[in-house]
Amino acid sequence: MDLSGKVAVVTGASSGLGKAFSMALHHEGMTVFGLARRKDRLDEMAKVLGERFVAVECDVTDDESLQKAFAHVGKTMDRLDVLVNNAGLGQFGDFEALTPEQLDVQLDTNVRGLIRASQLAVPTMAAQAQKNGGLGGHIVNIASVAGLVGNPQISVYNATKFAVRGVSEAMMKELRPQGIKVTCFYPGSVETEFADVAGSKGNPDAMHAEDLADTLVHVLKAPRRYLISEVVMRPMTVKG
Ligand SMILES: NC(=O)c1ccc[n+]([C@@H]2O[C@H](COP(=O)([O-])OP(=O)(O)OC[C@H]3O[C@@H](n4cnc5c(N)ncnc54)[C@H](OP(=O)(O)O)[C@@H]3O)[C@@H](O)[C@H]2O)c1
Repeated sequence: MDLSGKVAVVTGASSGLGKAFSMALHHEGMTVFGLARRKDRLDEMAKVLGERFVAVECDVTDDESLQKAFAHVGKTMDRLDVLVNNAGLGQFGDFEALTPEQLDVQLDTNVRGLIRASQLAVPTMAAQAQKNGGLGGHIVNIASVAGLVGNPQISVYNATKFAVRGVSEAMMKELRPQGIKVTCFYPGSVETEFADVAGSKGNPDAMHAEDLADTLVHVLKAPRRYLISEVVMRPMTVKG
């Protein structure tokens, strides 16, 4: 897809991967709607990036908030080409000690939020595909290597990212005939604020968010005739 002049929504745009994705897509000439709860951070990004970055306060666990955000996109622009479902968090610890609140926040953000945002994006993308008989849009889901292998201390996070893997595969198969590409990313450790939130030690040799942003641009720019449906990225140095 030629990205210039197209429109993207990035969830969790206020830090880490989402911020790097937003900046990279903006650099490619896209109009980017950055969604997150910390509007002050998004406003700072808007100051730096200028007009084609739109800061949208949104909590992906809140249906009304998501609907408002997508309505805003629809009102401002007459198209939606890319959705990056990136908002997410981990809360790590002993399996039996994880609280119902920790279970809910991870499931609601990492799984429910991703599904609801995608459901809100699909009608516009499908209509675009029908209109031009080509590619209607591209949805990119950010899972994790935790969606491929279970490990001690990250059980609920594992559960959410395995769910992202399942729904991504189903979406890919169901939406491809409608002219919508779906790609799932499975990154290993990336240097962001993720470890602070998760209560874990980060990997000192983690990848940089920009490494993934470069790969995202490559995946999105692939010609219409093929789809990169899965991307696994790991740091070269093994943790520990
Ligand atoms: N860093 C890693 O090692 C790593 C590895 C594999 C996968 N991932 C995945 O990558 C994604 C991004 O994480 P990151 O590493 O960039 O961590 P991060 O720096 O902590 O960023 C997380 C982002 O998610 C947003 N977010 C969290 N809850 C939200 C909610 N309810 N509504 C809207 N936005 C919400 C945060 O924004 P607000 O707080 O402002 O709302 C923030 O922008 C996550 O899905 C994570 O699971 C990370």
